[in-house]
Amino acid sequence: MKKQFKIMVMFLSFVLLLAACGKSNDMSSNSSKNDKVLKMATSADFKPFESRDKEGNIVGFDIDLANLIADELGYKLEIQDMNFDGLIGALQSKRVDMVMAGMSTTEKRKKNVDFSKEYHRSGEMFLSLPDKKIESLESLEGKTVGVQLGTIQEEGANELSKKYGFTVKPVDNAGVLIQELLSNRVDAVYMDSVVAVGYRDEQGLFGFDDPTTSSPGMAIAFPKGSDLVDDVNKALDKLEKEGKIKELKEKWKLDQVAIE
Ligand code: ARG
Repeated sequence: MKKQFKIMVMFLSFVLLLAACGKSNDMSSNSSKNDKVLKMATSADFKPFESRDKEGNIVGFDIDLANLIADELGYKLEIQDMNFDGLIGALQSKRVDMVMAGMSTTEKRKKNVDFSKEYHRSGEMFLSLPDKKIESLESLEGKTVGVQLGTIQEEGANELSKKYGFTVKPVDNAGVLIQELLSNRVDAVYMDSVVAVGYRDEQGLFGFDDPTTSSPGMAIAFPKGSDLVDDVNKALDKLEKEGKIKELKEKWKLDQVAIE
């Protein structure tokens, strides 16, 4: 009986100790940090910037960078996945605080959203099946070119099509776009080089660089007038100085196809 009592006291003290630990954790500086939520939207169909891994988690360069920025500024990051062409609207209606989606900075977009400093620059590429091997803009005549809806490539392709006589087919998801190519429903797709090179190597596709491209850099987008722009730019500067951005670029192999 005495022994049982002793065991019970020991057990109770253990439970109390655990409770105390839990409490002290709650009061640590982390909790106030985790109260501040940073809502970020992306379109997770754009490897290596953002995509779903086998378990369905959203991973990629933008996600790692967003986490570093959130840590730096003391926010808990919350990510929402949506179609690329819904991202600007989500910012305008303030449903999210920022967007990281390999989004290029254009004058048109700058009318509706604010951008951080640019964090990456890549050109653009046309991909086709190896047996079609489309290797020039001229050979696109009479063909169908797939693009992701709402991207600068959609706009660029519409422009180029006037001169080179091809049809543009917009698709709302970049993964579906590649499926369209693989199943011969489009003759070529037009996308950012970093992403295209990944698909080219993975699927054994043929790619040629768009010689006319003047692709603007990619940056983080915010609702117009957001206070976050300055803070995020400072965080980007710090991460750059610490070599963290370079590390991430190496991890996700962005620099292989970067342009100056
Ligand atoms: N860089 C291009 C643009 O800004 C395409 C970005 C597509 N991003 C994505 N996550 N699907 O228009």
